[in-house]
Amino acid sequence: MRNDIERVLIDEAVIEKRLDAMAGAIERDFPQGTLVVIILLKGALVFAADLLRRIARPIEIECLNVASYHGGTQSSGTVDFLDRQFPEVRGRHVLLLDDILDTGRTLHAVIARLHAEGAAAVHTGVLLAKDKARAAAVSADYVGFEIGDEFVVGYGLDYLGKYRNLPYVGVLKAAVVGAGEAGA
Ligand code: IMP
Ligand code: MG
Repeated sequence: MRNDIERVLIDEAVIEKRLDAMAGAIERDFPQGTLVVIILLKGALVFAADLLRRIARPIEIECLNVASYHGGTQSSGTVDFLDRQFPEVRGRHVLLLDDILDTGRTLHAVIARLHAEGAAAVHTGVLLAKDKARAAAVSADYVGFEIGDEFVVGYGLDYLGKYRNLPYVGVLKAAVVGAGEAGA
């Protein structure tokens, strides 16, 4: 797996330090009481697990399965809600976590749905935000790292379902991506 990585973009120690700061900011900003956190599966799993353990507050965790990428390195443009039931968010202050803000379509669609379901407020946190124009008008309240517009894996992010358990964020070798796209 590690042999497929061209270079490490953000190493584990740097991520951990940044998560300390993000957790502190979230604790300061959110009203006292139980935090309702919605984790977008599967990409935000690793980020959320490490972030939430740094927050000394009662937390209710909900997960949402949405699909916006269907395989390779390009966004499909549509966002599908895959769960049979949507979490109960009426009147709640919600913190929505995703792995990365790319085109913005995923966060935009989920935020709209949370408002439609009656959430009192929706705040968003992402580990990564790509420095590019968004297809959907959205920004995140908490951003771990701004990165260039390139495809990355690790720390929850996948390529064709792989590399989520790498403890850092890295860039794949071109040959690996080429082989995957050809076979997809
Ligand atoms: P968006 O809807 O285009 O903002 O993209 C959201 C989803 O696309 C993320 O939750 C990721 O699952 C996936 N994605 C976007 N960029 C990358 C990347 O560089 N590596 C892996 N997955 C990505
Ligand atoms: Mg994904």
